[in-house]
Amino acid sequence: MEWLNFRLDILSTLTFAFCLVFLISFPNSVIAPGIAGLAVTYGLNQNALQANVVWFLCNLENKIISVERILQYTSLPSEAPLVIKDNQPDNSWPSSGDVHLRDLQVRYAPHLPIVLRGLTCTFTAGAKTGIVGRTGSGKTTLVQTLFRLIEPVAGHIVIDRINISLIGIHDLRSRLSIIPQAYNV
Ligand SMILES: Nc1ncnc2c1ncn2[C@@H]1O[C@H](COP(=O)(O)OP(=O)(O)O)[C@@H](O)[C@H]1O
Ligand SMILES: *[C@@H]1O[C@H](CO)[C@@H](O)[C@H](O)[C@H]1NC(C)=O
Ligand SMILES: [Mg+2]
Repeated sequence: MEWLNFRLDILSTLTFAFCLVFLISFPNSVIAPGIAGLAVTYGLNQNALQANVVWFLCNLENKIISVERILQYTSLPSEAPLVIKDNQPDNSWPSSGDVHLRDLQVRYAPHLPIVLRGLTCTFTAGAKTGIVGRTGSGKTTLVQTLFRLIEPVAGHIVIDRINISLIGIHDLRSRLSIIPQAYNV
């Protein structure tokens, strides 16, 4: 935009200079001095016009990026079905809260490294369990996997004898609760 601005500046200055020479080289009888003065005043405004052009192009570029982003979103694969009719947990699920993880492997995207590498553990019902680990060790990832915000690459999670990969995500997410940290869970 700076590049374009600079070029347009030079162009309008040259045009203006050319017009000035043109105006003063005519005798008074052809172009009245008043009209010539008015023309010069308008000519000075050419820069404003050029600023508008640059602004418009800049805006157009942003708008086209929005269209591009919408196109990207429409080609994203959908999440799993919200409800799977013939595999709905009964209303009391999860009644106790026994959580079993088995060989759980999780990664954020196919081209990213695996974050949880074969995690196997059990959270017994009714217990308060603390998960400790340094930043980036995968604590948040584990919680997100419980809600199936990320689908595991391998392994499974069983909560109260139901494999959470086999039920609808609405059924799953509406039965679990999370209290996130205000920042950086
Ligand atoms: N949205 C994400 N996209 C890609 N990688 C992520 C994303 N969130 C976390 N990671 C990666 O996953 C690993 C574990 O992160 P995280 O679960 O946030 O750790 P913790 O909560 O224990 O600090 C880190 O290496 C991090 O870079
Ligand atoms: C849970 O579901 C996943 C995905 O369908 C499957 O790969 C896994 O074997 C199932 N595990 C159990 C214990 O049913
Ligand atoms: Mg975290």
